[in-house]
Amino acid sequence: MAETNAQRIHSLYVHVPFCAQKCGYCAFFSEAASGELISRYVAALVRELEMVADDLQPHTLFFGGGTPSLLNLRQWGQILKTLERTHGLGAGEFTVECNPATVSADKAKLLRDFGVNRISMGVQSLDDDLLDRLGRVHSRAMVFKSYDVLRGAGFENVNLDLMFAIPTQTMEIWRDTLNEAMAMQSEHLSSYEVIYEDDTALFTQLKAGQFAVNEDLACDMYEELVARATQGGFQQYEVANFARRQRAGAAAVPDRPPEDPLAGIPALACRHNVNYWRGGSFYGLGPSATGYVRGVRTKNWSNTQLYCEQLEKGRRAVESSEELSPLKRAGETAAFGLRMNAGWPFAEFQRVTEFDLRREWASEMSQLEERGWAVCDAHRFHLTHQGLRFADAAAELFLR
Ligand SMILES: C[S@@+](CC[C@H](N)C(=O)[O-])C[C@H]1O[C@@H](n2cnc3c(N)ncnc32)[C@H](O)[C@@H]1O
Ligand code: SF4
Repeated sequence: MAETNAQRIHSLYVHVPFCAQKCGYCAFFSEAASGELISRYVAALVRELEMVADDLQPHTLFFGGGTPSLLNLRQWGQILKTLERTHGLGAGEFTVECNPATVSADKAKLLRDFGVNRISMGVQSLDDDLLDRLGRVHSRAMVFKSYDVLRGAGFENVNLDLMFAIPTQTMEIWRDTLNEAMAMQSEHLSSYEVIYEDDTALFTQLKAGQFAVNEDLACDMYEELVARATQGGFQQYEVANFARRQRAGAAAVPDRPPEDPLAGIPALACRHNVNYWRGGSFYGLGPSATGYVRGVRTKNWSNTQLYCEQLEKGRRAVESSEELSPLKRAGETAAFGLRMNAGWPFAEFQRVTEFDLRREWASEMSQLEERGWAVCDAHRFHLTHQGLRFADAAAELFLR
């Protein structure tokens, strides 16, 4: 593992479990809640932040959800002032997830003033009928408006989330959305195929035979995504993630040498997620959040009332914690890192896990190479374009 007991943890994820309304496909822990519960959550989160503050010196902060942008100015003020007081600000990358329906100029300014420097906006589609179909609370017009508000507030690093293989979405609609998204010139793009999660409205409709899944179309849409994003100046660095190598108008960032652990990862990649995929520690606060600190994985209660009760009693709201064996942990770390185009540099894998990838997983590596799913060079092992299409199956081979 990367951190010793003497080193503080450099990464923090905070889960905000509230949404204006639940989208039909979403299984993230979130609910439409009363103002009273939201205020109680904020007070509980402030306590949780205070509890971990001494062990935290964030280089990356990520507020996800749920819909962090649903919190009002007062609630954000409480959280940001707590971070300020506990020396939690000043991260190189501080991301907040936003729903286009809940962005305002005042909120954007407050976030920017406290050092938030990256926004991840849930766009999903730029087709109004599909947005409606998905149960989104915003229109396409709101996406463009909120994007302008964020740019106006000084955000120079914005991610757009898009979904594809949405029921009734045609290739033509997907191309139009991709073209319009490219024209927005964001710094980052995340795009996922719809996953039919248990206990969601979309899953119920699928099971009821209201529509069928077209796997071939989904594959073609993925190929279109990779091609279009690449033409649009993005570099794919993970199965579903694309980033620019430099900001618009800035000088080109020179490529890192092959022995650099960050070689092959574009400068505007999400550093928080790169830490996560590369097996780094992070605290996870808020209901349902998972954390991974010095080899111990924790999960908070996925129940906001219970979460608040625990913190009101002065206890962390951890439902379960698990310390994996070093080999099991290394296997998981290998699997996560292979989702990245750059794969695993051998030296970095050894530094993080204390295992030699080439020795411990030699037969799995040759199996993937023989299938044409992976390649190995002097410095690293990584999946090919074809391998990335089957990244989950490839990664599974490394689990112990
Ligand atoms: C927590 S949400 C993003 C922020 C905000 N809650 C929003 O939706 O505007 C993270 C992203 O995961 C993706 N996502 C959520 N559920 C999904 C599913 N079932 N299948 C595919 N992508 C999903 C969406 O693109 C979503 O924007
Ligand atoms: S996709 Fe985002 S806005 Fe929709 S329910 Fe999930 S977390 Fe909430």
